[in-house]
Amino acid sequence: MRFGIVGYGNMGSAFARALSRSVGRENITVYEVKEDRREEAVKDGFAVAQNLYFLLQNSDALLLAVKPKDMKAVLEEIKEQVKNKIVITIAAGLEMSFYEEVLGKEVKLVRLMPNVGVLVGRGTVAMTHNGNLSEEEFERMTQVFSSCGSLYQIPESLFDSFTALAGSGPAFVFEFIDALAMAGVREGFSYQEALSIVLDTLIGSVQLIKELGGNPNEWITKVTSPAGTTIEGIAYLERKGFRGTVIRCIEKTSEKAKKLKS
Ligand SMILES: NC(=O)c1ccc[n+]([C@@H]2O[C@H](COP(=O)([O-])OP(=O)(O)OC[C@H]3O[C@@H](n4cnc5c(N)ncnc54)[C@H](OP(=O)(O)O)[C@@H]3O)[C@@H](O)[C@H]2O)c1
Repeated sequence: MRFGIVGYGNMGSAFARALSRSVGRENITVYEVKEDRREEAVKDGFAVAQNLYFLLQNSDALLLAVKPKDMKAVLEEIKEQVKNKIVITIAAGLEMSFYEEVLGKEVKLVRLMPNVGVLVGRGTVAMTHNGNLSEEEFERMTQVFSSCGSLYQIPESLFDSFTALAGSGPAFVFEFIDALAMAGVREGFSYQEALSIVLDTLIGSVQLIKELGGNPNEWITKVTSPAGTTIEGIAYLERKGFRGTVIRCIEKTSEKAKKLKS
C-alpha cells in the first residue's frame, strides 16, 4: 500500500518514520509547503511530491497531518481525487462529519488521535473510522499503524476524553517526573542523577504492572508496609487531595477539548 503524507511537521514526520517500518520507505511520498521541511523529508529518504495532484496519483492512502486550521483548504484541493482512496486524519478536534461535508459521505475515512510517543514509535493512538472501509481495509490500517505504537479502537464520542488522557497525558507525566526530580535535588542529589533515578523507578513500575499484571492499588499495598515510610508519603498525598486533583485535571482538559470544537 502506497502512502501519501500531507504536512511534514512534528507529527507528519514522526508518522512517516514509523510507517516506513510497516510499509517500507519506498512506499511513502510526502507533500509539504515549507521548503526546509521538504528538504528534511528528502534527507530522511522519502520521495517528495511537487503538488497534491502528484501525491494523490501515487498514493492509495492519504495521511492528513496539517494543523486543523489548514485542513479545509487541503480537503477542497483533494476532494475530486479521493474516490477509492483511504483518507486518514490525525487533526485534533475535527470530527469525521467535518471531512464528510467536503469529501462526501462515501469517503473512506479513518480518524486517529496520536500522542507524542509516536516520535519514538511508542505512541498511544486512538482509532476509528466512518464505516466505509471494508473489514479487510480496516484490518490493514490496524496492521500498518501498529508501527506507531499501541492502538485503541474507540468510538468518536470518546475522542475528547482520550485526548485528555493520552494526548495531554505525557505533559502531566512530565510534570510528575520533574516534581519528583526536584524533590530529589532537595534531598541532595544533582538534578541529572535525581532524574535518572526517577525515570528508572517509573520504567520499573510500569514494567511490573505490564509483565506481572495486577492493578496499581495492589502494587501500592505491596510496597507499603504497616506504619512504615511509604504510608507516610501516601497519607500526605491523600490529605492534599492528590487523586481528586488528577481526576479533576483530566476532567478540565477533556472539557476544554470539547469546548474548542463548539
Ligand atoms: N503535535 C502533537 O503532539 C499532536 C498530537 C495529536 C494530534 N496532532 C495533530 O497533528 C496535526 C499536525 O500537527 P503538528 O504538530 O505536526 O503540526 P506542524 O508541525 O505545524 O506540521 C504541519 C505542517 O504542515 C504544513 N502545511 C500547512 N498547510 C499545508 C498544505 N496545504 N499542504 C502541505 N503542508 C501543509 C505546515 O506548514 P506551515 O507551518 O507553513 O503551516 C507544517 O509544516 C495537527 O492537526 C494536530 O492537531 C498533533
